[in-house]
Amino acid sequence: MTEDIIIFQKKLTERLLELDLDKQPKELYEPIHYTLSLGGKRMRPILAIMAYMCSKDDWERIIDPALSIELFHNFTLIHDDIMDEAPLRRGQPTVYKKWNKDIAILSGDVLMVMAYDLLMRADYKDFKYLLRLFNQCAIEVCEGQQLDMNFEERSFVSEDEYIEMIRLKTAVLLGFSLELGGLLGGMTKEEAIHLREFGVNIGIGFQLKDDLLDVYGDAQKFGKQVGGDIIANKKTLLLIKAIELAEGKQKLDLHNLMADKEIDPEVKVKKMKAIYEDLNIEAIAEKAMNDHFEKGFVQLNTLEVSDYNIQPLRKFTEALIARDH
Ligand code: IPE
Ligand code: IPE
Ligand code: MG
Ligand code: MG
Ligand code: MG
Repeated sequence: MTEDIIIFQKKLTERLLELDLDKQPKELYEPIHYTLSLGGKRMRPILAIMAYMCSKDDWERIIDPALSIELFHNFTLIHDDIMDEAPLRRGQPTVYKKWNKDIAILSGDVLMVMAYDLLMRADYKDFKYLLRLFNQCAIEVCEGQQLDMNFEERSFVSEDEYIEMIRLKTAVLLGFSLELGGLLGGMTKEEAIHLREFGVNIGIGFQLKDDLLDVYGDAQKFGKQVGGDIIANKKTLLLIKAIELAEGKQKLDLHNLMADKEIDPEVKVKKMKAIYEDLNIEAIAEKAMNDHFEKGFVQLNTLEVSDYNIQPLRKFTEALIARDH
């Protein structure tokens, strides 16, 4: 990782931990402090900072609005872990496991409101515009999350439906991060929309990578339960492609695996991975991931920003493709 990114991460985390969380009732604030202190890549505020730096250098000016996105993201993770029944996040027990679901719901709610509080510190002439973009993005994330849950219960989901679902649940927030940074740096609204579109494409690639890591990642590095998507019948591109390509007995085995509620989770993951292996699913999903990142790079090259100023975004995006967590 480059030195710049480490500096951004350090500064962002320091600022996050300056938020006044030593408050009562502790059941509400401790989970927030816990979540924020467990780290994470902080990639959304970093994207905002890099977008800002396409035009300006004094990035510390936008730390608070950039962190509003990180708070919003952490809120979605706390609630997502309840929905996904996930035991681990960032290598530690999830909030609803460590405390309980009521606490996870409410501390997540507070984080979301805190996100608005930090966004209000943005110095921007048309603040209502920012707020509208943020709200639209927040609603779309919820739409994507609902589709993700709906798809668990369906046996057929098309590739297009899957891409639309991950565009909503994940990619629009990366898009907003870049757009926010671009606007705060003085880009026109039209220029910032181009930056958002770049963000949406790499965001789709980013979620495809997350889905790959969920099956093939190293649990230690990934920090989340490996195989969780298989256990929950998540309609990731991997499963969608397997359903599409399997034939004969394998097709039957696949559907039986998905329908079996009694099966030992470890056995289910092992059997599903064997089917994926047979059908060359990993390579298919990797190709789809690369295609979306590539689309993003093409858009990045059309921006009216000097090559020198765009370079950090390009490098950071390359690191996202290669990441192992
Ligand atoms: C996890 O996001 C949720 C997804 C959209 C895949 P990150 O991978 O950015 O999580 P942290 O913040 O680095 O832990
Ligand atoms: C997460 O998708 C998207 C949001 C939290 C909005 P996932 O459910 O794949 O994220 P992880 O894998 O739990 O981080
Ligand atoms: Mg989820
Ligand atoms: Mg999840
Ligand atoms: Mg995931």
